[in-house]
Amino acid sequence: MTGLSSAEVTDGSDVVKLMWSDGFTARFHAVWLRDNALDPATRSASNAQRLITLSDIPAGTKIVDASIADGALTVGFAPEDKQVEFPSDWLRANAYDVQADRAPGWISPGLETWDSEFDVARVTGAHAEVFEADAALRDWLSAVRCHGVAKLTGGPAESGALLDVAALFGYVRETNYGRWFEVRTEVNPANLAYTGLGLQAHTDNPYRDPVPTLQILYCLENSAAGGDSQVVDGFAAAHRLRDEDPHGFDLLARHCARFEYRGTGDVHLVSRKPMIELSPDGELTALRFNNRSTAAITDVPFDDMADYYAAYRRLGEIIDDPGMAVSFKLEPGECFIVDNTRVLHGRTGYGDSGGSRWLQGCYADRDGLLSTLSVLENNAVANVA
Ligand code: OGA
Ligand code: ZN
Repeated sequence: MTGLSSAEVTDGSDVVKLMWSDGFTARFHAVWLRDNALDPATRSASNAQRLITLSDIPAGTKIVDASIADGALTVGFAPEDKQVEFPSDWLRANAYDVQADRAPGWISPGLETWDSEFDVARVTGAHAEVFEADAALRDWLSAVRCHGVAKLTGGPAESGALLDVAALFGYVRETNYGRWFEVRTEVNPANLAYTGLGLQAHTDNPYRDPVPTLQILYCLENSAAGGDSQVVDGFAAAHRLRDEDPHGFDLLARHCARFEYRGTGDVHLVSRKPMIELSPDGELTALRFNNRSTAAITDVPFDDMADYYAAYRRLGEIIDDPGMAVSFKLEPGECFIVDNTRVLHGRTGYGDSGGSRWLQGCYADRDGLLSTLSVLENNAVANVA
């Protein structure tokens, strides 16, 4: 990265305008810089947490001087009479004076969407390597972050082995289905997943708020005919809908659907959330799609309901389009993990002509996975440096 070349205090000392030697410019507000000061009186030297509140910073904070030396900016703040140094790279990485021309449904540039052409080998790790080598684990977790799915081969076909996969990066999310659940044909199934029926590609548990953000499905037996797994990139599906029918996309994003699960016994879960979730600035943050647990939708205005249903139907058609799905049949000892806010999973029906199929599933959350990945990445950089 290039260094800072000039600093100019402007706007009545409320702003500093910085220029880098490659011509990049960015303005920063006095209060923003003061709040983000990196000195040990503002941030703890041991854990980097902020020691002050905004009320500790005078409301009329100004920049009285700004100078560049040794690749860093030094700013003097009044009325506190405080000098703070900001590294050039830190300022560049945190510049906010940039034109963000983002269409609704934009996704982070670090994500890659995919369709049926996607080679699942790109996100497949070998159990022995991912469990033994940091670099292999890093690659495997980064596939989940980037593509929303990863597969693991060559693991033990042992009950409970999926918990060791979750422990690679984080923590199991225990639910009414238990710490993990058995996915095999049951006589009085608590969920249609525990039958031989085919399942349309779906996200799990949209009736839960918050939804589990990760799901692991681990195969112990799969000799039955059928029972192939499918995964579909929900972000790619949402983008297709947006491109074909922006109004339909907008309806699914702007109005809440309702989801419900009434289990046997004492479980009753309900949620009121959109099928396509956008952040306030339009980032596509989650998809909820599950025919089994969509409840009566009552939050769409009467005049929009027909178009809403047309968009819901079209989204389902896109998800069912063979051009979107990647299919594979899990072998015993294999598993896959999906980002349950993005990638839908389904299966073909099985069990009509003998054989057995037994999967175990569990939920976990993305915070732990992203944290582990970030630490592995930082360690890798530190080892190179
Ligand atoms: C599930 C599910 C798919 C399968 O248990 O959530 O979708 O392959 N199972 O059995
Ligand atoms: Zn499922």
